[in-house]
Amino acid sequence: MSAPYGTGDASYLAAGQFEGLVKLVEDFYGFMQTLPQAKLILEMHSPDLTLSKDKLARFLSAWTGGPSLFKEKFGPISIPSAHSHLAIGSTERDAWLLCMEQALALQPYEQDFREYLIKQLSVPAERCRNRE
Ligand code: HEM
Repeated sequence: MSAPYGTGDASYLAAGQFEGLVKLVEDFYGFMQTLPQAKLILEMHSPDLTLSKDKLARFLSAWTGGPSLFKEKFGPISIPSAHSHLAIGSTERDAWLLCMEQALALQPYEQDFREYLIKQLSVPAERCRNRE
């Protein structure tokens, strides 16, 4: 039996390693660009999403127990501080999670892993909320 998600690099492996995370992030930003509910958070980003995609995929690498690819390239990060200049309330938080939920549905993951990941991601998403 493989290790439960959240133990060592189990989540990183279940996510398809860095290649899988890059695909997840690509689909995540694809939904952000098309879902009407995400318009308000898309507009917070620079029009060229290349750097945002690279940063999120690298962040998720260490976050899922894989290599510290964000730190390697950009140095240490605190998720709430990295978002403190943005107006994030529950609407923005939920729009972010909606894009992620839709992106997760497109990945060749086990359903229990999708559910695990969205539940875990709702923790940092809530920590980014700085109003309401
Ligand atoms: C709660 C809703 C969220 C919104 C609306 C949001 C929005 C954004 C925006 C607009 C940026 C670009 C900031 C800029 O260029 O100034 C950004 C950066 C970033 N976000 Fe989020 N985000 C959210 C949640 C999250 C979560 C939950 C994570 C991690 C699991 C995350 C990871 C990152 C990372 C790693 C960066 C790059 C930070 C840097 O430039 O150093 N975000 N986010």
